[in-house]
Amino acid sequence: MTFSELVHARRSVRRFDEKYNFDHQAVTRALELTVLSPNSSNMQTWEFYRIKSANKLEAMTKACMGQGAARTASEMVVFVCRPDLWEKRASWNLKQIMKNVKDPANMSKLEKRGQYYYQTVMPLFYGSWPFGLKTLFRKGIALWYTLTGKPIMRWSTKDDIRVVCHKSLGIAAQTFMLSMKNEGYDTCPMEGFDEQWAAKIIDLPKGAEICMIIGCGKGLPEGILSERVRLPMKEVVFEL
Ligand SMILES: Cc1cc2nc3c(=O)[nH]c(=O)nc-3n(C[C@H](O)[C@H](O)[C@H](O)COP(=O)(O)O)c2cc1C
Repeated sequence: MTFSELVHARRSVRRFDEKYNFDHQAVTRALELTVLSPNSSNMQTWEFYRIKSANKLEAMTKACMGQGAARTASEMVVFVCRPDLWEKRASWNLKQIMKNVKDPANMSKLEKRGQYYYQTVMPLFYGSWPFGLKTLFRKGIALWYTLTGKPIMRWSTKDDIRVVCHKSLGIAAQTFMLSMKNEGYDTCPMEGFDEQWAAKIIDLPKGAEICMIIGCGKGLPEGILSERVRLPMKEVVFEL
């Protein structure tokens, strides 16, 4: 399939063939492509939990309120945001930069910029101090930029960081779904689930958040509920 054919062929499929001899290696390959997705600052604040065993699939189907796309899935993948791992991820990135530095006493401009980014900028955006003081600090910086008429990224609250993580996960989910289609399988992204139930099944720590659960399998024709319809381009695309 060409890329265009692939995009046209992917649909959210709500019924999978439960008798089909599903190749779980297809999910492995799709996930290998998924992690190549663009993501904020390459922080990779994501995790992917593969639900494969019969008992976990059953439990997760309950968490997904019995939806057909969950109930008939051969495998489900839970796309998880991990903003709480930011320190680990920042130091991993820093390590990748420093690994290639030939002379630490004589770093290039680009190497210095990378070091500053993961050592200083990431903690500024992701970090917290007691009593919400870092949020206040970030709001103060934003206010200063407003007063001086300069642009600045106005991330200041924990929710801003949650949005940052969910954006990257959304892109990853699309890479995954297209990759699965390319493997000859179908998917259905789901946000219709009980977050607390689902988090318990995969034993998520506090601070982690589920972005989407994606049901995977061999789609059945009746799994496509209707013709695909979209708004006219002129209602959603604007040229300036
Ligand atoms: C974030 C997100 C959450 C979704 N949640 C569900 C869901 O819980 N159950 C479901 O059947 N479909 C779900 N969908 C699928 C959408 O309904 C579907 O993508 C939309 O109707 C367009 O159809 P298409 O994917 O076949 O093009 C979700 C899609 C997205 C992107």
